Amino acid sequence: MGTSRGEFGSRIGFIFAAAGSAVGLGNIWGFPSFAASNGGGAFLITYLLLSFLLAYPVLMAELILGRHAKANIISALAGISQKQWQKHIGFVVGVLGTLTAMLILSFYAIVAGWVIAFALEPFANLIGLNELALWFTEFSTGRNIIFMLAFMFLTMLIISQGVQEGIEKWSTRLMPALIIILLLLLIYVFFQEGALKGVKVYLIPDFSRLADIDLIISALGAAFFSLSLGVGTMVIYGSYIAKDENIVSLGFTVTLLDVGIAVLAGLLIMPAMYVAAENGVSIFNEAGALIKEDQLIFSVLPALFDTMGVTGVFIAFAFFVLMTIAALTSSISMLEVPVAYAVENLSIQRNKAAWLVGSVISIASLIIALNFGKLFGLVITVTTQYAQPLLSLVMCLFVGWVWYRNSLLNEVKAGFKKVEEGLFWKVWPNYVRFICPLIIVVVFLKSL
Ligand code: PHE
Repeated sequence: MGTSRGEFGSRIGFIFAAAGSAVGLGNIWGFPSFAASNGGGAFLITYLLLSFLLAYPVLMAELILGRHAKANIISALAGISQKQWQKHIGFVVGVLGTLTAMLILSFYAIVAGWVIAFALEPFANLIGLNELALWFTEFSTGRNIIFMLAFMFLTMLIISQGVQEGIEKWSTRLMPALIIILLLLLIYVFFQEGALKGVKVYLIPDFSRLADIDLIISALGAAFFSLSLGVGTMVIYGSYIAKDENIVSLGFTVTLLDVGIAVLAGLLIMPAMYVAAENGVSIFNEAGALIKEDQLIFSVLPALFDTMGVTGVFIAFAFFVLMTIAALTSSISMLEVPVAYAVENLSIQRNKAAWLVGSVISIASLIIALNFGKLFGLVITVTTQYAQPLLSLVMCLFVGWVWYRNSLLNEVKAGFKKVEEGLFWKVWPNYVRFICPLIIVVVFLKSL
């Protein structure tokens, strides 16, 4: 602390903030529905392997780079470059990463807006405002825009307060709330008729699907999206970590929390689907596959809550508040990427930068909302399936090949004196140099 740059005030503050970034709609919306449509346990195993073997090393590359540079991704990549051409590439990649973070936020805010609307719906129904309730839950451009703007407002408000007063304070308040709500919901659903069937589908792997390339590609995308990789989020959060912190264990804790919460969310959603089936809600589509993604969260689950009477009102509210919290602690980390750049490189005041950049993103979001059919899916595919893995690849190449090994070692050593004696330093440097880029390239080419 005491620096003119922001810094997390405590170890736990960083853990909640970074885990807050990682745990988001990806975990609670994306992961369970991917698992539902990709052979349950088989997807789970692949996701766990890829998270620890591939996403964690990339996360470490970003955190270490950020703390070393004490800067946003654009300056950080240029900063470790030795040659002029590397600086140019670093700059371009940094800009692309920052733009990707902004684009991700622009579609994310729309989904987050739905979540807020769905949280309000049960109450509107309860007090007899049935038409309003219907408006909350029916797809319309008007609803999409109003709630997107509301969500963006909250995101800008938090980011305008800065690192400790905004990001850290709100993450440390919201993340424990998220974990408690998740556990309570889980316990409740577990005791409902039909839940066990869902647990079985979720946990028993269909081994024949393990070698399925589509499954691997989905799991890789989910792991990268979930750990917020490639777009400079973890670089900027890393830059706010104090020098004397053991960054290796911090990164590992964040990965564990992220993966743990994704797995728990699956353990909530899959059983909930089978409870819904037990209550007469249809959970399979015409092709006989489990309903997934937006249909799952925004139609199957609400239908389930409807069958639960007054209890359902509170369960629905708790569930969508959970999703709102998860989305908010992620969206602030996306907005922080361009805002940090505006503050540090363009000398714009944080408060102004937050509202200004946030407004630009809101406009992008507005354009997507107005051209939903054409743009929504497209932006998701371009940012998460293409940009994130490719940017992560470049990040590995910069940290593995461009950055001087000694400087890298000193950075890790700053808060972990004996790093050279441990497994991390024996494996990780060559891992980010060779293995990570190789796997990303292979999977990426396969996905084309
Ligand atoms: N990790 C977030 C989630 O799972 C999404 C995210 C992507 C956040 C990229 C920041 C940057 O929902």
